[in-house]
Amino acid sequence: MKTVIVYYSMSGNTAQTAEKIAAQLGADLLRIAPVTAYPDAGAKKFIWGGKSALMGEAPRLQPYKFNAADYDRVIFGTPVWASCYAPPLRTFIKENAPALQGKPFAAYACQGGSGADKALKKLRISLGIEKFAAVLALNDPKDRPAPENDKRIADFCKLLKAE
Ligand SMILES: Cc1cc2nc3c(=O)[nH]c(=O)nc-3n(C[C@H](O)[C@H](O)[C@H](O)COP(=O)(O)O)c2cc1C
Repeated sequence: MKTVIVYYSMSGNTAQTAEKIAAQLGADLLRIAPVTAYPDAGAKKFIWGGKSALMGEAPRLQPYKFNAADYDRVIFGTPVWASCYAPPLRTFIKENAPALQGKPFAAYACQGGSGADKALKKLRISLGIEKFAAVLALNDPKDRPAPENDKRIADFCKLLKAE
């Protein structure tokens, strides 16, 4: 199944996980980013990103190349922001919703400690689907490596390989 991982990452945790999943599934990677970057340090980092997530913003994205017809399946990757998925994914979904309809989706979230369940539920609702083919939540996997993370990534990929 030709798969693309569409993800946003501010500080690299979601990006590193995307690369690990892509290596196991032979998937393509599409990293999206807003035209105006969110502040990534100090208190502003949490205030601006958190506000944007809570307000349901859809920031304009830097140009990207994506043809939904090239893929059978999409995996979304996001950091958890204020128990929401990151706003750049909202823009991507809005821009590509009709073309994505009917494809199987999976998703993973990187969090500091909690909120991934809520964020993934909100993502699922935004996509208008009942269920993801597979889900995964990891705690800062790049910044705080834990031995079980690679096993959990492998289990996530195994489920998707079986599809
Ligand atoms: C604006 C903002 C809001 C966040 N909100 C949460 C949260 O609600 N729950 C949580 O566990 N972590 C939260 N975090 C931490 C990130 O989800 C976590 O560090 C994640 O691994 C970062 O992924 P990245 O390196 O791909 O950007 C937040 C981080 C930012 C910048």
